[in-house]
Amino acid sequence: MTTVRLRPVRHDDIPLLSAGEPADDPFGFYGFTAANALERAFAANGLISDDQGTLAVEDDQGVLAGHVGWFAVQHGPASTARALNVGIALLPQHRGRGLGTAAQVALAAYLFENTLIERLEAGTDADNIAEQRALERSGFHREGIARHAQFRTGRWRDLVIYSRLRGDPAP
Ligand SMILES: CC(C)(COP(=O)(O)OP(=O)(O)OC[C@H]1O[C@@H](n2cnc3c(N)ncnc32)[C@H](O)[C@@H]1OP(=O)(O)O)[C@@H](O)C(=O)NCCC(=O)NCCS
Repeated sequence: MTTVRLRPVRHDDIPLLSAGEPADDPFGFYGFTAANALERAFAANGLISDDQGTLAVEDDQGVLAGHVGWFAVQHGPASTARALNVGIALLPQHRGRGLGTAAQVALAAYLFENTLIERLEAGTDADNIAEQRALERSGFHREGIARHAQFRTGRWRDLVIYSRLRGDPAP
């Protein structure tokens, strides 16, 4: 299997990572954000806090290929009803060679080894076949459709919802 390494984002990663999500990206564009948004978030907490995190993805040559992240979601009022929603964005030149699958396998392993979380979840556009396949290859289970969960680029989008539980077999 393709190998990747996850590590904290460094300051010198920010220009490359900030260049992502151009307006013609079919799945990653949610409207323009401030050009210095990542820089400011990095200055605040290095992109890792109790509720969310972002890690850099390196390929097997140590080249920065993109980032993975997570944020806490609540399915009830108590800490016992908490899950982590995970996501990924690879730089365009690093897509389609197995890194997305390997990075999401690595992220799940990292979160299960370093937090007490039981449930990871992910949602992806119903048209985003690459991410659906990558999640399925990463041991995530398809749960259903969240209808009109996102309004992006002029229309409502359905999301396919996935989960991976701590006890689910690793791929
Ligand atoms: C989605 C993404 C993470 C997938 O990672 P990747 O490294 O490109 O995908 P992989 O090479 O691991 O391939 C995973 C599967 O998707 C398929 N695939 C890859 N690119 C594809 C494409 N453009 N269209 C259809 N299927 C595709 C692969 O064939 C493979 O399927 P298989 O197991 O049946 O062979 C990556 O393409 C990406 O960052 N895209 C832009 C951002 C994004 O969409 N993020 C997810 C938002 S929820």
